[in-house]
Amino acid sequence: MQCDRLWYNARLMTLAEASPGLGAIEDGVIAAKGGRIVYAGPSADAPAGLDAQERIRLDGQWILPGLIDCHTHLVYAGDRAREFELRLAGATYEEIARAGGGILSTVRETRNASEAALVAATLPRLDALLAEGVTTVEIKSGYGLDRDTELRQLRAAKSLARLRPVDVRTTYLGLHALPPEFATDREGYLDLVCREMVPLVAAEGLAESVDAFCERIAFSPEETERVFVAARAAGLARKLHADQLSDSAGAAIAARNGALSADHLEYTNEAGASAMATAGTVAVLLPGAFYFLRETKAPPVATFRRFGVPMAVATDSNPGSSPLTSLLLAMNLAATLFRLTVDECLAGVTREAARALGILDQVGTLEPGKWCDLTIWNVERPAELVYRIGFNPLHSRVWRGQ
Ligand code: NIG
Ligand code: FE
Repeated sequence: MQCDRLWYNARLMTLAEASPGLGAIEDGVIAAKGGRIVYAGPSADAPAGLDAQERIRLDGQWILPGLIDCHTHLVYAGDRAREFELRLAGATYEEIARAGGGILSTVRETRNASEAALVAATLPRLDALLAEGVTTVEIKSGYGLDRDTELRQLRAAKSLARLRPVDVRTTYLGLHALPPEFATDREGYLDLVCREMVPLVAAEGLAESVDAFCERIAFSPEETERVFVAARAAGLARKLHADQLSDSAGAAIAARNGALSADHLEYTNEAGASAMATAGTVAVLLPGAFYFLRETKAPPVATFRRFGVPMAVATDSNPGSSPLTSLLLAMNLAATLFRLTVDECLAGVTREAARALGILDQVGTLEPGKWCDLTIWNVERPAELVYRIGFNPLHSRVWRGQ
């Protein structure tokens, strides 16, 4: 079989579910044609006559699937360094939010930014992720909260995929905060989001999913249900910021609505974890926000394991609670702060992150038929990717076979 490109003398972590562990293979080969994987396995089992226009000999480097950051708020204007200083001086995240800062301060800056300005502000953050091997990134809106700015944020996010070799999955996060012009009219804002915005972003193809911030400083369980009903009617997937600062029954709401994922989950209870397992809802763990807000209650990882809830790890890159643009560091934090195993961390930024985005049939593992998105690492053991702090051993990154 003649292919476009072939990597050999490599070690592979396929992450294939049928394989034991993470599917490690010594002396492996990957072959790509038309951007897709046609073979990934031991060189001894490669189909007879497998050849390629370009043959790349590695030096025993490890090849993993391209990394997937499945929860970010990458597109925004400004920063919140001043609030960071206020928090260092003793203010809490919730106090700052209630005083009109927090998310709403980024909303003010984002409303004043053009699409080009948003793209320009985001590219350095995106480039930081790509430099560590990210090949798919999810990006949420939620810093516009009015019709035009939300659309502009989503368009800016989509346009990043035309500027860089990366797949961008977008999520409409209208229920992120109540915008000031609706401060005395929650019902009016719920109507705008559920009746106008959700159908609009679906019709324009600007988002694949709908997310909400279900929390006492944001939106209630009932309000969350309403936007989920609208999302389902519009054919959009559901995701949820759930149980981050308090137990709001968010995990159960996400599960009940067939959400792809529930994210954060520090305060999730046992019933919520059980419901997630039954629904197949992925737990997206965000240790960057836990660390940066100096939270003390870690998500119930042992409970997720016991019920068999799949776990992903993401940066939650955003200006307020997680100004983090390193998925490698997110893995280290997940291991150190949440006690995830190395294997859970590696699966959490590949296979399980793909599952959390509903694209596991396309990416997330090294298997024939999937996009050939690879990361090639200068490490002796993949555990080094989780173990090091602030060191990037990426040898090269392959997106769609190139
Ligand atoms: O995922 N929880 C809500 N949204 C973000 C924080 C947004 C912000 O503070 O700007 C999060 O942590
Ligand atoms: Fe978030």
